[in-house]
Amino acid sequence: MPVEETAETEAARQSAARRRIFLTAATAGLAGLLFGYDTGIIAGALLSLGPDFGLSSFQSGAVVGAVPIGAVAGAWFASGGADRFGRRKLILVSAVVFIVGAIASGLAPGFWTLAGARIVIGLAIGVASAVAPVYIGEIAPANIRGALVTFFQLAVTVGILVAYLAGLALTDAADGWRWMLGLGALPALVLGVGIYHLPSSPRWLLMMGREPEAVEALHQLRPAPSEEIQVEILEIKTVADRSAVGSWRDLLNPAIRAALTVGLGLAILQQITGINTVIYYAPTIIQQAGINSASSAILASLAVGIINVVMTVIALRLLDRAGRRTLLFIGVSGMSASLFLLGIAFLGGVGGTASSVIAIFSLMAFVSSFAISLGPIFWLLNAELYPLKTRGRAASAGAMTNWFFNFLVSLTFLPLIDLLTQSGAFWFYALIGLITLWFCHRYVPETKGKSLEEIDELFARRAR
Ligand code: BGC
Repeated sequence: MPVEETAETEAARQSAARRRIFLTAATAGLAGLLFGYDTGIIAGALLSLGPDFGLSSFQSGAVVGAVPIGAVAGAWFASGGADRFGRRKLILVSAVVFIVGAIASGLAPGFWTLAGARIVIGLAIGVASAVAPVYIGEIAPANIRGALVTFFQLAVTVGILVAYLAGLALTDAADGWRWMLGLGALPALVLGVGIYHLPSSPRWLLMMGREPEAVEALHQLRPAPSEEIQVEILEIKTVADRSAVGSWRDLLNPAIRAALTVGLGLAILQQITGINTVIYYAPTIIQQAGINSASSAILASLAVGIINVVMTVIALRLLDRAGRRTLLFIGVSGMSASLFLLGIAFLGGVGGTASSVIAIFSLMAFVSSFAISLGPIFWLLNAELYPLKTRGRAASAGAMTNWFFNFLVSLTFLPLIDLLTQSGAFWFYALIGLITLWFCHRYVPETKGKSLEEIDELFARRAR
């Protein structure tokens, strides 16, 4: 074969391989849509659902809180399941459970069925958020793993935005809230059908001693020559051979403890720097900042949704070039600075045009900074920090912690304002942002370009 032709065939093969791996990651990443859609839809749905069912404020809180609490339980179920049954099967189960929960909540005749259906949705979201990033991390080549796992976070942000739009479109429709909640079944259906056609994680297959299937899965994922696949299999096998499925007790091993410190720390910090106060309460914050018309407040929340998506795309493009640590430093500094500014905008009550403009500018800057740092990077590190043997359990512990603190922050935001005033509350989150900077500097390693097995080695060295 002439030399140019060989080069052309090689280039075509590589671009086909790239397309295939991107498509696989994007399909599994759809799991993030479930999580994002529910996060974004519930406030809008409650507006009409509350009066329909005559909900007390406690009952409204329960309808909202049922999902994060269900998600804590879901992530816990995923902890053993991801290792025993495999990542792919669990994502499939979460899609089916979500469809059941979404349809049941859309049809719910009263408060109790609704609350039950929302717990079911939470279970599905908890499983999906614990397992989908791990699946993507395990099928990804090291040099683009950051971008591929970020498809999950991108889907979260798209889900939030679509939910805002669906909320706007359906507010005045008959049974609008039933449609808002029930429509969540659609992305879950796409996820289920998509994931059904994908191969299992080759790393999980090797851990289970199923080498021929792992080779086959890698061939499906990367149409590469057999020698390249064999090299990758050998590298994974060096750790897979040592890896019977781990137990909770294994998490106490020093190397895993070192990785867990980073993962659980970021799980907590991602939430307690206050992102969901903005995502859940953006219209309220904007109205309190002096924008009185409801439609301007809604438009401003749409802008928050759009900027969240756009900046996540930018993060996706930068993570494998600039690295995780650089983006964390830039993003978390931006979060703290904009929260500080947001606090100033609320000083002495608001109403003036200047303070409204500052408030809206700082909200956007805050969301942008989160979207290039803690947003995608927590889920990415949670998928790549742990050794194969305990990855399922440890990543589930990360997701559980994240959901628990998500619940806690949404519960405490309004009382915190009562206690500290708005400015005080935002400065409190800004201070936690500074602690986060210190934490990242001290504990978070750079994982850009490293294979999962090299990261494993890095923590083993750290523990020694
Ligand atoms: C967080 C969510 C948050 C979302 C906003 C995710 O990474 O875990 O709690 O609502 O980002 O984009």
